[in-house]
Amino acid sequence: MTTTFPKSASIISRSRRFIPGGVNSINRAIRPEISFVRGEGAYIWDAEGRRYVDYHAAFSPHFLGHNDPYVRDAVARVIQNGESLYGAGSTVNEGRLAELICTHIPWVESVQILNTGSEATYQAIRLARAVTGRDHVIVMQGGYNGWHNDVACNLMTPLSNVGPRRSPGEYPFIPISAGIPSAHQQLVHPINFNDLDSVRYVCERYQVAALITEPILQNIGIVKPQPGYLQGLRKLADELGFVLIFDEVKTGFRHALGGYAEVSGVRPDLVVYGKAVANGFPIAIVGGRRDYMEWFVHPEAAKRVLAAGTYNGHPVPVAASVATIERLLANGGEVYRHVEKLGQQMEAGLEAIIRRLGIKALVARQGSAFCLYFMEKLPVDWHDLAKHHDFAADERMRQNAIARGVFCFPLATKQWSLSTAHTADDVVFTLREIEGALRVAFALNGAREMTAAR
Ligand SMILES: Cc1ncc(COP(=O)(O)O)c(C=O)c1O
Repeated sequence: MTTTFPKSASIISRSRRFIPGGVNSINRAIRPEISFVRGEGAYIWDAEGRRYVDYHAAFSPHFLGHNDPYVRDAVARVIQNGESLYGAGSTVNEGRLAELICTHIPWVESVQILNTGSEATYQAIRLARAVTGRDHVIVMQGGYNGWHNDVACNLMTPLSNVGPRRSPGEYPFIPISAGIPSAHQQLVHPINFNDLDSVRYVCERYQVAALITEPILQNIGIVKPQPGYLQGLRKLADELGFVLIFDEVKTGFRHALGGYAEVSGVRPDLVVYGKAVANGFPIAIVGGRRDYMEWFVHPEAAKRVLAAGTYNGHPVPVAASVATIERLLANGGEVYRHVEKLGQQMEAGLEAIIRRLGIKALVARQGSAFCLYFMEKLPVDWHDLAKHHDFAADERMRQNAIARGVFCFPLATKQWSLSTAHTADDVVFTLREIEGALRVAFALNGAREMTAAR
């Protein structure tokens, strides 16, 4: 059976007349082309009126599900109360948000409230350069930290471009955007995740201001730090004098209020949050050590780091963020226990399916975030994954899952995100449909083909 999307096609082709590609973020250009019109809790509806259990969560901000009523009411209140963007002075709510974050995340001593994760990683790196007086930056092959010149590189790089595994060593800067000056590319050093030797290798050759990493690589699924790795980064930062930046745009507030730093017990110097901070409203936070953060208001103009933005601390996302944090804190963090239970149900169900079907697959999971890898053992870095994962089977499974009413991003390895709005019944439904999708993906007996039209 082939699923078609005529209404979606007409919306997208109209948009394409005025918007390059018809999308406002290149990552949203997907096959099949689907236009969504509504979201509520764990579900989204497409233009044809079809309902999906959503595991994409808009690249993962919707930790409380779509349109959480508590967050929505808080937003409606600030609009109805006539709060506006004043662009002068300070407001009660932005102070409250900053205080909530700094009170509940001890290593975040002060914050700047920005709009997007990319802005926040940009500012964290700029701040690190200012305080260290150094220019070079270490990034992870297989990590994503935004669209700007320091980090738009070496994500899902074909191995034919990046070359064989290097350790200790660094990879060539492989841009994921045109327009990055080659002189700037010389300042950025991609290395393997989970590879402390390469950190030392780069630091021995360049003046390194910062190492930025997602503490779990969650833009290529769920690639976890090996035992001791994050602790090792902390030690090397202290020894070699670079600023350790955790990019918790995906992991922050989702794995714990204090993100994966809280789970691992390793404290970064600076941290960046986005996405789940405001459950789908646009906001991002850069925060950390007060002595570093004070450089944003350094008394010497030449040392002051410019954090400025018309929409920084906008009352709507700030209200959404305060409400989100209140929801996350309620009943001693009940929401985290709920998603962990769902995550365990999902993981156990997927493992049972894998055994039943006899396929080569493994479940990787951290709390509410999970994915399937079709390989012998869980990957430790991008090379491992790129070499061993069955990308074609992954994409076939995703296409079939979508046609069965389970929306995951139709690109191999992308994270699946549970929300607090999902229920045990949603998981049961999802497992049944994933089993069907896997039968098709691996051409097993009893496969019932369902293909979303391309
Ligand atoms: C880990 C990580 N850092 C930074 C970003 C960039 O955030 P934004 O898209 O809000 O600019 C993303 C976005 O996917 C991300 O996953």
